[in-house]
Amino acid sequence: MFWVKKMRLLVLLMLQAVALLLFFQYLYGPSYCPGRAEKSGPVHVLILSSWRSGSSFVGQLFSQHPDVFYLMEPAWHVWGTLSSGNAEQLQMAVRDLIHSVFLCDMTVFDAYMDQGPRTLSKVFQWEASRALCSPPSCPLFKREAIISQDNCRTVCAKQPFNIMEETCKSYSHVAIKEVRFFNLKALYSLLRDPSLNLHIIHLIRDPRAVFRSRQRTEKNLMHDSHIVMGSQWNGLKNENRPYHLMKVICQSQKEIYKAAKLLPDSLRERYLLIRYEDLVHDPLTQTSKLYEFVGLPFLPHLQTWVQNITQGKGMGGHAFQTNSRNAQNVSQAWRWSLPYNDVVRLQNICRDSMNVMGYLPVLSEQDQRNLSLGLLSPLGMP
Ligand SMILES: *[C@@H]1O[C@H](CO)[C@@H](O)[C@H](O)[C@H]1NC(C)=O
Ligand SMILES: *[C@@H]1O[C@H](CO)[C@@H](O)[C@H](O)[C@H]1NC(C)=O
Ligand SMILES: *[C@@H]1O[C@H](CO)[C@@H](O)[C@H](O)[C@H]1NC(C)=O
Repeated sequence: MFWVKKMRLLVLLMLQAVALLLFFQYLYGPSYCPGRAEKSGPVHVLILSSWRSGSSFVGQLFSQHPDVFYLMEPAWHVWGTLSSGNAEQLQMAVRDLIHSVFLCDMTVFDAYMDQGPRTLSKVFQWEASRALCSPPSCPLFKREAIISQDNCRTVCAKQPFNIMEETCKSYSHVAIKEVRFFNLKALYSLLRDPSLNLHIIHLIRDPRAVFRSRQRTEKNLMHDSHIVMGSQWNGLKNENRPYHLMKVICQSQKEIYKAAKLLPDSLRERYLLIRYEDLVHDPLTQTSKLYEFVGLPFLPHLQTWVQNITQGKGMGGHAFQTNSRNAQNVSQAWRWSLPYNDVVRLQNICRDSMNVMGYLPVLSEQDQRNLSLGLLSPLGMP
């Protein structure tokens, strides 16, 4: 019968279509393929933060991922070389450096380093980059391993600087952590640049915790603090400077967040705000969210490692390294170590910013010391 034949043909066609669909899903589906750049080209991740806000920790979450080429604060070289400018004046040079590094063009460092042959170790905090500690940069570790900075520094420091470009190009993701941006405007052109697939992770932290952490690292931050304050520095008394710095920091973090809210939809989905306190409260869930945002799989050995480094005992030996420590406890340290009067002064300076970011003020010394009292309110995501 004619219609039976027609039915058979139709079923056959449909089966073929389904098979074809499955085949394409297999080819282009979300299944994970280690080391392979995605078909849309590399993903660029900017971890945007301020000093002492947990950004080394978040940087390590990306650095230790075997699909990520990571650099920590490359703009340190800009601020170190062009130190006569203030933060605002240097921002465009910082942006251009970031742009080049995202494209794996490392010749940009020529502007900030001595000419001639140099080693990898000329790059600020190079050993914080697992990618620079493993092939093709350094043959002594595996790409898939968790690599400690101390071990890397010992055995990989003599590798040539030039290997950085090839290394960068062998990854599907390029991530940079930077603390030297003070508004989002400087980044608009990078967000719109068709040669980049920029995703911004904006990491913030309770200003009271930032303040306390800055106190403990004041000398190391001195050079940067000068640049942040610019000409205001000399007119201020020593004891007032930390508060003025916090004012600039709180204001700029708030401005970045507000500007991100106003981005057109297509760009706003490339911005993610994360609070350090939420991250340490639930590291696995939050890390998973960060990876998902930029299209990285949360591999089993990374899950174990994240658990390890956030639940270790003690407070962490070195202030600029990410090692095993009780991250929850560290994030609350200001509550027993800062004098209440300092806290009140800070809360006044950073009131708007704290309000927008969901950090509740303490209204008495008793509340400050009472760790059962939570000081986070839910955050309205932009
Ligand atoms: C986690 O910590 C344990 C105990 O210190 C250690 O044996 C293990 O290698 C660590 N795992 C990772 C992935 O860091
Ligand atoms: C947090 O650290 C402080 C100071 O080291 C210590 O007194 C306190 O017991 C710790 N709390 C927890 C929950 O680990
Ligand atoms: C600490 O805060 C908790 C939660 O708000 C409250 O129930 C408790 O009474 C407070 N304790 C003191 C000593 O203030």
